[in-house]
Formats: sequence, C-alpha cells, structure tokens
Amino acid sequence: MLDDMGICVLTRDIILFLLDRDRGIFRSGEELAKIAGVSRAAVGKQVSHMKKEGIPIMSRRSTGYMLPHSADVIVAERLRRGLSGIVDVQIHEYDEVGSTNDVAGDMARIGAGEWSVVVAETQHAGKGRLGRAWDSQRGGLWLSVVLRPDMPPRSVPLLSLLAGLSVANTINEHTGLDARVKWPNDVKLNGKKVCGILSTMSADAQKVHHCVIGIGINVNNPILNDLQGIATSLSQESCGKMGDRRIVDRTDMLTILLRIMKTEYDTFQTDNGTSMLKRWRSLSETLGRNVTVVSADSSISGLAMNVDSDGGLIIRTPDGETLTVHAGDCLI
Ligand code: BTN
Repeated sequence: MLDDMGICVLTRDIILFLLDRDRGIFRSGEELAKIAGVSRAAVGKQVSHMKKEGIPIMSRRSTGYMLPHSADVIVAERLRRGLSGIVDVQIHEYDEVGSTNDVAGDMARIGAGEWSVVVAETQHAGKGRLGRAWDSQRGGLWLSVVLRPDMPPRSVPLLSLLAGLSVANTINEHTGLDARVKWPNDVKLNGKKVCGILSTMSADAQKVHHCVIGIGINVNNPILNDLQGIATSLSQESCGKMGDRRIVDRTDMLTILLRIMKTEYDTFQTDNGTSMLKRWRSLSETLGRNVTVVSADSSISGLAMNVDSDGGLIIRTPDGETLTVHAGDCLI
C-alpha cells in the first residue's frame, strides 16, 4: 500500500496501524486485506508473526482481529504519520536487537542519513555508559538516532545534553511529571533515574562524520530489584492513589520526543547550543549542589557551578580552585 506521500508501507505496519486506530473493535481479515492491498492469507501470516513477537492481537474465527486497549506496543506507522512534515525521519523498528546503538552505527557507516532512528522492543546486549550493561526489557523505549552535525568533536557532549533535555521536556509535556536533567546524561524523576543516554561518534581531528545518540527510557518496563532504590519508570511514577499502574503510550511519547529533539537540534545549529544550555541549566538538578565526579583516573569534589559551552561541568573545589570536568560519574 502507498501512504499519503506515495511511500510503500510494510504490510505488517499497515495492519498494526489499522488495528491500533480501531482498538477494541474486531476487524475482518477481508477488510484489512483490502486496505493493505494483500490477500487474506497474507494478513493471517502477519498477524501470527506479530503474536509471536508478543503483540496481544485477539483473533476470532469468522469475525477477525482486534487489538485490546491495554496492548503496549510501538506503532511505527502512527509514529511516521505523527512526524510527517515535521521531521524527515526514517524509522527502523525491530522486535529484538543486541543494541540499537550498534545497529544505528552500522547503518551510519554505510551512509544512513540524519534522523535515521532505530527503535527496538527489547535489546539483549543493551549498553550503558562506562562499559556497563543496560537492562532493556520489553515496555521501555530503546532507541538510537543518527545525526551528522557540523561541529568539532569536542562539542559532541552537547548533543547528549540536548537529548537529555528533550527527554525531560517530553516527560513533562506528556505526563505532567517533573523530570530534571542530571549531568552528564541522565534524566531523573523524584530523585531516581528514568533515562540514560549513550552517545558515540565517528570523527577525525577536525570533523564529526556521524553521531549515534542512544536513548533508553524506562516507560512501562519492570525495574530490576537491585535498582529499585535508584531507578524508576514512567509507569511507576504515574501510579494512581490505589497503586494502580498506568500504561504510558510509547508511540505518543516517541513522537513528542523526536519532535522536541528536532526543534532543539535546529535551534542548536543556529546558535551553537547557547539557548539549549540555558534551558538545560533551568531543568538541572546538578547545578548548585555539592558533587563528586569520578572518572577512570580522578575524583573531583566541589560545588557544581555551571556547564561550559562544550558541556563540561565547572566545579569549585573546597580550596577555591575552579576545574572543568568532561566525563565521569557524577555523585550528588
Ligand atoms: C547510561 O548508562 O545511563 C546510558 C544508557 C543508554 C541506554 C540506551 S538504550 C538505547 C541505546 N542502545 C544501547 O545499547 N544503549 C542506549
């Protein structure tokens, strides 16, 4: 089938889009086949693939197929339509990958354009900062965005700040919660980590060839027991008074995130990050606090004063010295 812009839409994506649009209503295989421009057998085949991936589509003999309201699934075609005309985005959606950063990095090396986005329902080798593993169970938002910024390699950490700021603003806009950014790359809710960012780049001394901005947001996924005190999810934080967990719509969240990120990135390219840094500072839970930044070869403690124009953290130590740190774990 061709969409409004004449682009060929995958049969799977169009069937899921139609079932998502009419959640709670049974649609006949014949009707879906007609709209998707395929046979009824092809519809049946796609539905059973999706069920194997864990999408809880209900089938009823001689009635058809239905997606329940409660189904938590990323609907790639709804996402594309929500971004159409705003972000010229290429969405590559997977059920399972090792790491979306690796997939996006491979795509970038063979020429994928800016705003190629890799999103997966689950990662079996999700990567965190400083060589750590990143738990990526189903229900989270695990994505990587390819960018090709015209900037020197030393400024690339600014893109991680930009991504963190965009995630915090998305959460605040979409859920009404009060998300804050923590230097360098975390987003926090009520003092607990809800999102981490891992950026990689390919560059020579002067020029960046491409960056991969990897974003992991705990949305409806369970939080591992040993992380309960320090990490949280949007669903956990949006609990009702009765402790009932809300399922947060990940497709809507991702749509808003990519829109906000694109707007931030466009502005960033015109003012080299000045206004983004201003917004980052006003959502920061790091500045004005006593911190210790631990890196491979040092540990620096002091008052977090500011972030500089390359995203480094400016710290005033107890003996009055002012230092800038560019990487490390920031303990508050
Ligand atoms: C951190 O340690 O805080 C950074 C975590 C980054 C996780 C995201 S999930 C999507 C992308 N793919 C990965 O393997 N890692 C990043």
